[in-house]
Parts: sequence; structure tokens; C-alpha cells
Amino acid sequence: MAYTSFFRDTDALNAISDLVIPAISHARSIRVWDAGCATGEEPFTLAILFAAKLGAFHFRNLDILATDYEESNYAQFEERIRRAEYSRQDVFWVPAAHRDQYFEPAESPEAFRLTAPIRERVRYLKHDLLTLVPPETGQSLIVCKNVLMHFSPADQVQVLEMFHSALLPGGFLALDGNQAMPEAFSARFPRVERGTPLFQKPVG
Ligand SMILES: C[S@@+](CC[C@H](N)C(=O)[O-])C[C@H]1O[C@@H](n2cnc3c(N)ncnc32)[C@H](O)[C@@H]1O
Repeated sequence: MAYTSFFRDTDALNAISDLVIPAISHARSIRVWDAGCATGEEPFTLAILFAAKLGAFHFRNLDILATDYEESNYAQFEERIRRAEYSRQDVFWVPAAHRDQYFEPAESPEAFRLTAPIRERVRYLKHDLLTLVPPETGQSLIVCKNVLMHFSPADQVQVLEMFHSALLPGGFLALDGNQAMPEAFSARFPRVERGTPLFQKPVG
């Protein structure tokens, strides 16, 4: 199922905003992989969070790779993300100040389009997580929400191994609040702060 929405999973988003963005914002290249991005609401939410925290100079260093295997009834994710147009109902959960700043009226009536600076930060690639080969490595942050629950425990462990290999040392992994981190990863993906679904690959 490809259910998604803007600003979904507040705990993860607050942790990204408060703990991750300040830690990675000065890198010359800020690489984020949104794994299982569905129709784009999630990667665009991430781009908005970064835009709201970073000045224009650092924001240009952000590169969000949004991937999905598109095998649901809602295919054509790439086209939806490229158009970046969403209905009034879709943008309901976007805080009003962000809606005013980062969306503009779209050609279709009653629709809104992300502004160009936000659109330009998000790339889409079709990718199946169960290939266990990361599309790109050197990531500062991987976001994987409401996806791992669809996999067997053994597949979850293998996908987490792949995430670990795709992250830079000190890189972050944000999951949804319902996803437990398997015991086997407690040292390799320690939780950043109690109560947050945010984990960090140790530097050493
Ligand atoms: C419930 S949606 C979650 C979307 C978004 N991450 C969120 O939290 O709002 C689950 C997404 O995972 C994707 N997905 C499921 N299995 C996948 C796989 N093996 N590889 C890549 N994406 C997958 C589905 O296509 C769907 O878009």
C-alpha cells in the first residue's frame, strides 16, 4: 500500500529538524535517501524541513534521492514527483506558513505545486529495496518510514545492513515510531535520543 501524506510521523520529523539538520547542514554535499517514498509527499516534506532551517546557500547543497519500487496500484510515482502537484486535500497537513511559502497555484484548479527551489532538490529513482544493493552510497541521512513493516524479520535485517553500508560514518537513519530496531543492531545503530525513532551510525 502506498498510503502517505505530507508531514506524516511528527516524532521522526521533529527529530530530523532538531537533531539531524543542525548536525549535517554545513557539509558541502547533504545527501538524503528517502527509501519507499511513494508519491512524493514525504521527500518534499523533507525538502521543506531543510529549507525552513537552512539559508539559501546551504540549501543548494541538499540532494534528496527518493526511491520506490512502484509496485502498487498507484504507479507512475516518477511522473507525480516530477510534476509536484498536489490537491487541496493532499496539502491539508502542511502547516499554513509552509503552504504559503513553498507552494504556488498549479495549472489544474484547486491544486498546488511545490515551488522550483523545493522541486529541484528532489530526484526520483525506481529501486527495489529487496535487491539489497543501495542505489547510491555516502548518505548523510536515510529516511525509511512505514516500509520495513511489510518485510519479513530476516529481510528487515538485510535491508538495515544495506542502509548501514550506504550511510557515511556519523550518518543518521530515521524510521517510523512503530518500527523496532532489531537487537542485532543495537551497537551499530544506537538510538540518538530516548523516545525518538532516530538512529546514528557511529563515527568510529
Ligand atoms: C505505506 S507507504 C509509505 C510511504 C512513506 N514512506 C510514508 O511513510 O508516508 C510504503 C511504500 O513502500 C514501498 N515499498 C514496499 N516494498 C518496497 C520495496 N521492496 N522496495 C521499495 N519500495 C517498497 C511501497 O511501494 C510504498 O510506496
